[in-house]
Amino acid sequence: MTANTEADINPPFGNNKNRKRRLKNIILNIHPERIPKAAIKFTNTWGLGGMALVLFILQIFTGILLRFQYEPSTPKAFQSIVFMQDHIVFGQIVRNIHHWSGMFMIIASFLHLLRAFLSGAFLPPRQWNWIIGICLFLGLIFINFTGYLLPWDQLSYWAVTVSTSMLDYVPLIGEWLKTMIRGGPDVGEATLRNFYTFHTAVLPVTLVILMVVHFWKVRKAGGVKLSGNSKPEDIQLINSYPSLFLREGVAALVLLAFILLFSLLFDAPLLDKANPAFSPNPAKSPWYFQGIQELILHFHPFFAVVVIPLLLLTGVVYIPFLKYRMVENKSDFTENSFIKIILWSSLTGLIVTPLLVILDEYVLHFQERLTLLHPLVSEGLIPFAVLALLTWSFVFLIKKKLSNRKIDLVLALFTLFTISYLILMLIGTFYRGEGMKLVF
Ligand code: HEM
Ligand code: HEM
Repeated sequence: MTANTEADINPPFGNNKNRKRRLKNIILNIHPERIPKAAIKFTNTWGLGGMALVLFILQIFTGILLRFQYEPSTPKAFQSIVFMQDHIVFGQIVRNIHHWSGMFMIIASFLHLLRAFLSGAFLPPRQWNWIIGICLFLGLIFINFTGYLLPWDQLSYWAVTVSTSMLDYVPLIGEWLKTMIRGGPDVGEATLRNFYTFHTAVLPVTLVILMVVHFWKVRKAGGVKLSGNSKPEDIQLINSYPSLFLREGVAALVLLAFILLFSLLFDAPLLDKANPAFSPNPAKSPWYFQGIQELILHFHPFFAVVVIPLLLLTGVVYIPFLKYRMVENKSDFTENSFIKIILWSSLTGLIVTPLLVILDEYVLHFQERLTLLHPLVSEGLIPFAVLALLTWSFVFLIKKKLSNRKIDLVLALFTLFTISYLILMLIGTFYRGEGMKLVF
């Protein structure tokens, strides 16, 4: 037998002895036996999908612990949380972990979405995993939202009242949808029961199913997408055990230590028991819906709640299916124009969004100037047309100055809208005071 074959130098994990070990140990089946060297590089994925998964497992674990004590009824919910915090061993810390890890899970999966986008992982053969990812993200927002109500304090009661009221502006089905979700005309006993069932049964099961398909699709696509600039040695196959497993284990432990520390330092918020007769001023929705609540201050609610979010969602879902040229299909945005486009789009979002908010707050007042027109036109169609014109000018400038490749224009718009939404969220959270007036 000749010695120096590739298999001798770097024997596959799948030799007979190891294959037997693999059959006995389910953990060893999580990854393929052999993976390209570049796939274990931390910066290839930043471990963000894995982090979202670790946080999800932590949520299930702490959620089950909370369920032992929590009572899902309006007279008892708030008291059960107070009792848990004050009298159950580790009650406060378990609640803190569940609260903060829910928040960090949104952040991790959002950053993972950005990573998948920026590495071009939405292109075939991964296009359907992009769509599953979007469903996962929406599911995650809803599981957070349904959890938000459960403490039944002033914060949660009014946040859910404000957010579900936004549904009034959805034409035809809005009123019906709001009543279905609330289980009646107002937020009350039936709402709590609905949210509890969705939070602890329907949504966790749905997310688990979606995740299983998500991971299967990653395997089916031949693993994670490698950078277009990979060198030949980077695509050389290496054994996934132990290198990849060890790295993942260390990343998971560091993340868990961080969440534990954070939860030891900061308690999850809890105000007074919910009081439907007393509305705090301002009454705000949860932080992830603050961008939409901010939009309502500038557009007719039909545009803020229905038209703009639906257009953006359609755009994000449609990204993989725009016909890019074949050369572009290989692109992971690593060309020279990449950084410039991100920089200019981010700067535009960072400067123009607050400017428009201030301009609308103190100067424009479309409704007052155009009293003869229906509010849907003066507060909706006209500001929306202005926004569309500004977006068109932005695309025109990018095309003229930087690149007119379709994939680069998608990158520019994606960056612009992401930054703008984040700015709106920050303004809504930190710069809106009494009566939702701007405060500095
Ligand atoms: C991705 C998964 C999950 C997320 C993001 C999530 C998020 C949340 C959030 C944000 C709260 C409000 C926390 C607070 O401020 O007090 C909450 C409460 C709660 N969650 Fe979850 N949760 C998840 C899964 C689960 C599961 C699987 C269960 C049970 C099997 C569960 C049970 C509970 C209970 C009982 C509460 C009320 C106790 C409390 O508010 O502290 N959760 N959840
Ligand atoms: C609960 C949320 C999610 C979990 C637990 C999750 C988990 C994962 C994991 C573990 C991977 C393997 C590679 C990596 O770690 O990056 C992955 C890949 C992927 N995810 Fe997610 N994901 C989630 C949400 C999303 C979202 C919101 C999107 C985007 C819309 C998305 C799109 C993708 C894509 C396109 C891939 C393939 C990436 C590639 O081949 O390079 N995922 N996901």
